[in-house]
Amino acid sequence: MKVLLINGSPHAHGCTDAALREVAAALNADGIETTIFHIGSAPVAGCIGCGGCRQAGQCVFGGPVADVLPLAEQADGFVFGAPVHYATAAAGMIGFMHRLGFSAGHLLRHKPAAVITSARRAGTPTALEAMEKIPQYFEMPLISSTYWPMVHGSDAGQAARDAEGMQIMRNLGRNMAWMLKCIEAGRAAGLQPPQAESGAQTNFIR
Ligand SMILES: Cc1cc2nc3c(=O)[nH]c(=O)nc-3n(C[C@H](O)[C@H](O)[C@H](O)COP(=O)(O)O)c2cc1C
Repeated sequence: MKVLLINGSPHAHGCTDAALREVAAALNADGIETTIFHIGSAPVAGCIGCGGCRQAGQCVFGGPVADVLPLAEQADGFVFGAPVHYATAAAGMIGFMHRLGFSAGHLLRHKPAAVITSARRAGTPTALEAMEKIPQYFEMPLISSTYWPMVHGSDAGQAARDAEGMQIMRNLGRNMAWMLKCIEAGRAAGLQPPQAESGAQTNFIR
């Protein structure tokens, strides 16, 4: 089983990466393969709702949202990580998640997901809440930990010294591994994800 951990920071080797590596190590210790994907340092725009992805099979603006697709297809679970920027999740990660969801939501659906954040000081709950919107929309069981999943620091070294934050990351990895194994055991016993109803879309218009 594989978990894809997405680093939504402009820093490939910063605090978010340090936290994701701790989650990955715990997953690896439980026999789960991991890949860390960095969305890059260039600005990542949000979705313009053009619908071009319906014909193209991927976001027509490409970039990391297209590059991640082979990994997302293989993944059994996801961890989305981003630093706090101005008291919410970094805009590039939100843009990435919106475009990934809009263009390739079928690769996310019913796979367990976790969100984690890093901050110098403030804005972590809002950042977590912002990222949770995508797992919530795509029926992804949200994996929690022993506290809200955050680390504090301004660089990877400081984040690594956040003993409680790193403990939370390891517990998150173990919980993710447990959930993946439960889902696999369920599948082996013939349990499939439920078929969702569809068709009703009323836009509150009577
Ligand atoms: C544009 C910008 C805005 C930021 N806003 C906040 C903030 O509102 N609250 C906070 O605690 N830290 C803020 N920070 C600091 C980062 O969240 C913090 O250093 C984080 O751990 C960096 O993670 P990274 O190394 O993965 O990028 C901001 C950093 C940048 C670049």
